[in-house]
Amino acid sequence: MPPTIYNCAVAEPHLTARLAAAGDLHRFDARAGEAAIAEAVRGADALLLHPMVPVGEQLLAGAPDLKVVATTSVGFNTFDVDLLTRHGVALCNTPIVLNDAVADLTIALVLMLSRDLMGFEQFSRSGAWGRREPLPALAHDPEGKTLGIIGFGRIGQEAARRAHAFKMNVIWYDVFSEAPPEAPEATYRPLDDLLRESDFVTLHTNLTPGAPPVIGERELSLMRPTAYLINTSRGPIVDQAALTAALRANTIAGAGLDVLEDEPPDPNDPIVTLPNVITFPHIGTATEETRLAMREMSVDNLLAVLAGEPPRACVNPSVLG
Ligand code: DGY
Repeated sequence: MPPTIYNCAVAEPHLTARLAAAGDLHRFDARAGEAAIAEAVRGADALLLHPMVPVGEQLLAGAPDLKVVATTSVGFNTFDVDLLTRHGVALCNTPIVLNDAVADLTIALVLMLSRDLMGFEQFSRSGAWGRREPLPALAHDPEGKTLGIIGFGRIGQEAARRAHAFKMNVIWYDVFSEAPPEAPEATYRPLDDLLRESDFVTLHTNLTPGAPPVIGERELSLMRPTAYLINTSRGPIVDQAALTAALRANTIAGAGLDVLEDEPPDPNDPIVTLPNVITFPHIGTATEETRLAMREMSVDNLLAVLAGEPPRACVNPSVLG
């Protein structure tokens, strides 16, 4: 019997053709509720999906032969990894192919914040330039400033490489204190020292569901009043209420946030309208090239598991046997 594959994440003909060649391919509607999705994918051997699609007990009960869940994301905080592992289901994600895109956005935020690019753009757009009004206050060079990277994995290291091109000093903190051998030059600092010494603090850690935020009131209180916080990883890594309070009180200079605690945010959430914040709608990987690479990788992952071969990435490799 060919395996049954359910897909809601990939539409390119060259990718759907590869899936169709490997089994019985069906589409399902990712916007249906959890129960409707569980019903729609009954009997699946493999699922290709976005990270927001719920994969819970009900779905697993209806798909006892499920072997692989291939998500088109690197982040897997929305999945219950223990549950999937108990059911012998491989959870495959898409690391590495998005490192550059996320690191680019991180450094774009450093430049936007240090050079006040939003402020100057608004000056021009509002007609103030045309009316010959005086320029807003001058901005600052990134050169010579310190970028503090929390989470010195692959994306953090790419951010460090780019920061060197802008002649910044780079310091880092991670739960390990020995830099990986391939890491670019940067100095390890304990977390509190990094927070005290950085002009820009950027977050590149995984989100562990249920873990306390890495950046809360105490950590924000250690940052300089001239420093900026940048988050292109996951919203709950920061205590957003504490950040909002710090931004309102100007105890830090500002923030650049690609991710928020709730996505999309409540339209009245001050975090998206405060004058010292730049927010983006979770676009770290939102380029044609990167998203395609992610979809290709998730198809490779799914097909490899079905063929009994090692996938390009797997969150719970113990199930692969
Ligand atoms: C990822 O791949 O985890 C990105 O944040 C997009 O969801």
